[in-house]
Amino acid sequence: MKTLLKASGLTKRFGGLTAVDNVSVDVNIGEVVGLVGDNGAGKSTLIKMVSGVYQPDDGEIVFDDKKVTFNGPREARDLGIETIYQDLALAENLDVSSNIFLGREIKNRYFGGVINTLNRNRMREESSKVLDRLDIHIPSLAQQIRNLSGGQRQTVAVARTIYWNAKLVIMDEPTAALGVSEQRKVLTLVRTLCEQGVPVIIISHNMQDVFAVADRIVVLRRGKKVGELLAAKATPDEVVSLMVGAEAVHEMGVIPKALNGTVEPA
Ligand SMILES: Nc1ncnc2c1ncn2[C@@H]1O[C@H](COP(=O)(O)OP(=O)(O)OP(=O)(O)O)[C@@H](O)[C@H]1O
Ligand SMILES: [Mg+2]
Repeated sequence: MKTLLKASGLTKRFGGLTAVDNVSVDVNIGEVVGLVGDNGAGKSTLIKMVSGVYQPDDGEIVFDDKKVTFNGPREARDLGIETIYQDLALAENLDVSSNIFLGREIKNRYFGGVINTLNRNRMREESSKVLDRLDIHIPSLAQQIRNLSGGQRQTVAVARTIYWNAKLVIMDEPTAALGVSEQRKVLTLVRTLCEQGVPVIIISHNMQDVFAVADRIVVLRRGKKVGELLAAKATPDEVVSLMVGAEAVHEMGVIPKALNGTVEPA
């Protein structure tokens, strides 16, 4: 299995707070990595370093066998690292294919480029090809984004990254706002991407989602990596106890004993 991303010792501080503390993560082609942790654990900050939004204070990123530094998300995207944030950054008032081509439209050029018009037909054709490839069904590509469901929007956001040759897709809580059947569709899409050679890092609070889709699970707690497990060999309980920490599990265990009178309350 080829290692596509090798992030080592990444650290990010905000003033006195170390949001991400010496975290290393590898992503191999052919796998989905679940990134989990409680609120504020550092998940978004970690992926923002990988996607060029933040520059790490320490550590290094090797992508596709080359050491890389990014001066902004554009530079990461140019190398094929595409991140889908929860707000999806879609234009509500534009149709599906215009969103796939947002900022990179195909134009008809007339009079040596003096007059340019959008080549809507080409964009629709190309959009329809990439949606087919991902097995995504949207009734009409002329549909404005605002009329689509949350799951359909998510799939348009993924289709856009794939059309632009993503090599690694990162998704921050892609299923948080979705209904059950849409969640399932998005998770299927994640597996499809992975099978087509595009590994995915998926952040989620939902253990069911993580176990449904991830091959490997990386657990963050208060900025530190506290565990890395193979999904096939781990249980949701195990992952949750890593997320909340041994003390919390201990505390939970102590309460009934204390009530039993077998342990002196602190
Ligand atoms: N731009 C920022 N400036 C200052 N502090 C920040 C900034 N971004 C994040 N933090 C802090 O860093 C820590 C990690 O935040 P981060 O957003 O990475 O957590 P998270 O794991 O994504 O949480 P959630 O599950 O709530 O999205 C938090 O304590 C947060 O308050
Ligand atoms: Mg977050």
